[in-house]
Amino acid sequence: MANEDVEVARGYHERTKHSEERLRASPHHLDWENQPVPFKLYRDLEAIPLPRQLEPGTVSALRAISALVGQETEPTEQVPGPQALARVLYYSAGITKVKRSPGGDVYFRAASNTGALYHVDLYLACRDLPDLPAGIYHFGAHDFTLRRLRVGDYRGAFIEAAGVEPSLAQAPVVVASASTYWRNAWKYRERAYRHAFWDGGTLHANLLAVAAAQGLAPKVVTGFADRDVEHLLGLDPAREGALALVPLGRTAEPPVPAPDAHVLNLETEPLSAREIDYPAIRELHSASSLEHGEEVARWRGVALRRPEPDPLSELFPLRPLAEADWPAEPLESVILRRGSTRRFDVSRFLTFEELSTALAVATGSIPADFTDDRESSLLDLYVIAHAVEGLPLGAYYLRRAERALELLEQGEFRAIAGRLGLFQELPAAAGANVYCLADLEPILARFGNRGYRAAQLEGGIVGGRLYLAAYALHFGATGLTFLDDEVTEFFSPHAEGKSVMFLMALGRTVRRSPAPRSRGHSSPRPRQ
Ligand SMILES: Cc1cc2nc3c(=O)[nH]c(=O)nc-3n(C[C@H](O)[C@H](O)[C@H](O)COP(=O)(O)O)c2cc1C
Repeated sequence: MANEDVEVARGYHERTKHSEERLRASPHHLDWENQPVPFKLYRDLEAIPLPRQLEPGTVSALRAISALVGQETEPTEQVPGPQALARVLYYSAGITKVKRSPGGDVYFRAASNTGALYHVDLYLACRDLPDLPAGIYHFGAHDFTLRRLRVGDYRGAFIEAAGVEPSLAQAPVVVASASTYWRNAWKYRERAYRHAFWDGGTLHANLLAVAAAQGLAPKVVTGFADRDVEHLLGLDPAREGALALVPLGRTAEPPVPAPDAHVLNLETEPLSAREIDYPAIRELHSASSLEHGEEVARWRGVALRRPEPDPLSELFPLRPLAEADWPAEPLESVILRRGSTRRFDVSRFLTFEELSTALAVATGSIPADFTDDRESSLLDLYVIAHAVEGLPLGAYYLRRAERALELLEQGEFRAIAGRLGLFQELPAAAGANVYCLADLEPILARFGNRGYRAAQLEGGIVGGRLYLAAYALHFGATGLTFLDDEVTEFFSPHAEGKSVMFLMALGRTVRRSPAPRSRGHSSPRPRQ
């Protein structure tokens, strides 16, 4: 079976690594004339407006991110209405800011995204809901509407494709996500397949938090028969790939058998004058695909156990703020304030309490089908601390079980962090850099090529949570790209054999003079 031929994921990862030599040998010049539009625009479908007046949020960001809400009770019936759906869609994939510029306006979204290219779209499959008949819908971020792709209740087909994943089987709504590769590959070429999961990950960090805050019991389902899901969504498998399914809400009523799903031939506007195909993306997507529900059910099986090595040096126990001292600002308001920090202030420190809180919240359990208990994760986190009050300068490994940072090497590593973060100023100036690494071999052995998708996605979710936690705590953050092997070498021998899945820089932001970046656009206006 293709998924077990893990040479494909290994090969893709290897060939898409950044190194100084490769960056020199293969510079990429952007063809601005051929820049793709950042939206999927259907030609002939009627737009169904979503409610634009969004109720203010009530759950604080840190509580929502760490999923400390919605677990208290197990409601048998929790059916999202139009307001709840609008909130989930807006705060995970909606337009939150517009930057007007002579070269063209940039529509910034709720979650960070490599190059602000926004190649990940959301879809809904639902039964009859208040004000929304059963169907499969596409979320149009550009005009804050839904467009119906299919009429009828197709949840049964998604449940079957996902090997009867129990959380899906009880949900009145399933949110699906998919990348249109070219929208990102225009700039990042073959690496766009990594980016599908990073950017899908930051989006899902928001989605999980917003949905949890509304008691909708979300879970990231990464195992499904790809061809079936892509057929249901009407995706073009040569250009688009489904990423994840997320159930929203609960219902005791089992879904009716899904109607037949004919081939959808829905026309969309061309993204740009011409598209370049990157076969390595299609090859890995296909090699990490699962064929049918039974294969998915076998794939899901048991989670990966990853024993932690014994500590070899001094431990610095995390000192997260007590929950009672967490900022009360609602999640939605933090999402509207979030952005990527463009300049860190080297003269101002983070506190160890702030860093600890962000790390603790970001590494809280992720409800997903590749993690079977509250503690399991595919990632190991490493940290370089440059300016953290209460923590010596140095390189650290996060010991999840002990909730402590293990000192790997003491020292001032600003210059090397700048180099590791692709020679940028941001990681050198940050207060701390957090590297998410994965030991890919056991992951591939357990999950096949699909494990590669899951590890990258988890990197994106942890990164997305770090963004939100940083903004909730009133400091700055930005995702970064990196020199793959040099990061591993830097943290070795501890990190020997591991691969970088995500890099986040955290620190105090230098305030810029107000830029012409307006908030709100014509998208929903949250009530203040
Ligand atoms: C995975 C990832 C990698 C990123 N890498 C970089 C980077 O190397 N340098 C940089 O300046 N910004 C980087 N960014 C930030 C994006 O440029 C930013 O998210 C995007 O422009 C949207 O802006 P916003 O985050 O302010 O909404 C990265 C973001 C993500 C999610």
